[in-house]
Amino acid sequence: MKKVLILGSGNGSNFEAIARYFKGKQVKLVCVSDIENSCILKRAKRMCIENYFIPFEYTAEFLNNNDFDLCVLAGYMRILPENIINYGTFINIHPSLLPKYKGLRAIERAFENKEIQTGVTIHYVDKEVDSGEIITQEEVLIKKGMSLEALESKVHEVEHHIYPKVIENIISLC
Ligand code: GRF
Repeated sequence: MKKVLILGSGNGSNFEAIARYFKGKQVKLVCVSDIENSCILKRAKRMCIENYFIPFEYTAEFLNNNDFDLCVLAGYMRILPENIINYGTFINIHPSLLPKYKGLRAIERAFENKEIQTGVTIHYVDKEVDSGEIITQEEVLIKKGMSLEALESKVHEVEHHIYPKVIENIISLC
């Protein structure tokens, strides 16, 4: 059975979409958060998925003691140093069409700049922020009169739709 680690710090909506997608499939998910009592850990508990609060300074030790076919960042608010990335394959999801709008508030910044489109990028993780090799991107149009809230929901809807499929593709190859 393939083993996938999902790392997150906050809300965990991507984690939940991934967990729903893989329910009943031959894939074992483990959820780790660097924030105690974070929503992502609460979602994992509710969905009966193995979960751990691991302070960031113990993450390397955790990875050293556990093997994963793929490590998935889903709102993990940490920059991973090389010694962690080297444990395996890490992927991340970012709510913009990278290389545009790296970093925080990506959806808001695209909206404030009156872009006509933004989107979602899934990419491999390297030691720079939001910069590794791009695996896939999907555009989201910013329609005339669209509110920021509507744009955020559309971007997250796209994230929840594409992230599980990309994970499935990658683990099918390893
Ligand atoms: C997502 O928008 C993702 O693209 C970004 O952080 C957000 C995490 O949301 N990296 P959630 O915790 O999965 O709800």
